Amino acid sequence: MTTRRKPFSGSGDRPAGAAQAPSAARDKPDLELGYARLQRLYELSKLLTSYDGAGSVPELLQRVARTVPLRLALVLDARSSPPLLVAAHAAAVDEPELLAATEHARACVRRLSGAVAAPALLTVDPEPLPLSPRLVRKPPSRGTFAALPLLQNLRTVMGVLYVRGGQPLIEADLAFLSAAADQLSLACDRHAAWQREVRLRERAEALDRAQKELIAVVSHDLRNPLGAVLLGISTLRRWPHMSAEILRGHLDTMHRAAERASTLVHDLLDVARLDAGIMAVTLLPLDLAGAIGEAAELMTPLLESRGLRCETQVEKELKPVLADRERILQVFSNLIGNAMKFSRQGTAVSLLAWQEDGEARCCVADEGNGIPAADLPRIFERYFQGPHGPTAHGAGLGLSIAKGIVEAQGGRIWVESREGGGSRFFFTVPFAS
Ligand SMILES: Nc1ncnc2c1ncn2[C@@H]1O[C@H](COP(=O)(O)OP(=O)(O)OP(=O)(O)O)[C@@H](O)[C@H]1O
Ligand SMILES: [Mg+2]
Repeated sequence: MTTRRKPFSGSGDRPAGAAQAPSAARDKPDLELGYARLQRLYELSKLLTSYDGAGSVPELLQRVARTVPLRLALVLDARSSPPLLVAAHAAAVDEPELLAATEHARACVRRLSGAVAAPALLTVDPEPLPLSPRLVRKPPSRGTFAALPLLQNLRTVMGVLYVRGGQPLIEADLAFLSAAADQLSLACDRHAAWQREVRLRERAEALDRAQKELIAVVSHDLRNPLGAVLLGISTLRRWPHMSAEILRGHLDTMHRAAERASTLVHDLLDVARLDAGIMAVTLLPLDLAGAIGEAAELMTPLLESRGLRCETQVEKELKPVLADRERILQVFSNLIGNAMKFSRQGTAVSLLAWQEDGEARCCVADEGNGIPAADLPRIFERYFQGPHGPTAHGAGLGLSIAKGIVEAQGGRIWVESREGGGSRFFFTVPFAS
């Protein structure tokens, strides 16, 4: 955007032209009027010390309109995201005039800055601007207007204070409006800097929290399996001649504990990758039926060892999806692992896939305990675990990682569950073409 300080002002609907010829009476130097305006400007500057974005603009517009008789006034500022667009108008102004003025203000920003302002939602102050009945009765004077640039860091045009006068705008009006726009520019800068600072502080606090959580998980969840391995080793050292059966029992326990530690380390690495935004997914065309078959094959021995059945159902001739094979298997493994932990013996865990709304949908369904309604909104949060707590051997990471992977592949994930009525986890995967 370029720097342009001169306001657009004039009549008609095009953002160009000079200010309308002021009436002789209004152009007379008037000391009293000047002092009154200085006083108003001072009050505006006091108001703007507590500027907080859209919430402060209506009061600003009302105060400007108490000094310069206005049909309507609006502020368009592209600094915030989405851009701020707030208007106020006199009771006589109808919606078409307001919308035309909004478009005109956008055109002015385009002309002043050379950039197109992103679309913004218009907020209108319900309180009408004060406009004397004498001026209202006059037909709208071919839209006498001014568009005062709002500058960022005193340099770059980021928006406008746009007004339509109740009567032709005189030099003194433009001087007042220009000073008001300058004060608003400074207030917007201060507000943007404050918002940046808040964002940075929140990010630093989130990182700090994440670090503390990580240390808590590592010190708590990793200590248990490592403790089990160390205990097994010291037992083997103390009784080197134990029977083969007891020896196998100790080795199995140590193996399971080491596996749990290894899974946890992998999960924590994935969490760190997601945090850093570097969860790499290699998206290639993938046959979902094949991937589901592989997931079922990998998990069936474990499911069967817990007395559970694995059932699969994939819609015929499902088109290839665009996904990372290893990561999709990881999502299935996390969801099936949960289904296994929270299911009763003799029930089934089902893996399904079909086409719906132009994308592939997958579902992992179980007939287990279900999830309490109060827990559903938090289920994908990191470290969240339900009422069973730590008994289920986990750190509460599986679902948050599954969500991260599904979203990195351009999909969504959600759950439907009822306490005592089983759970169904769904996720979508985009088709390859
Ligand atoms: N199929 C399910 N049935 C019932 N509750 C579930 C199911 N899946 C998840 N949950 C609940 O959601 C919580 C979070 O699941 P998540 O997979 O993130 O963590 P976890 O399984 O406890 O630990 P981890 O996955 O790190 O080993 C679980 O602790 C459990 O309370
Ligand atoms: Mg899990």
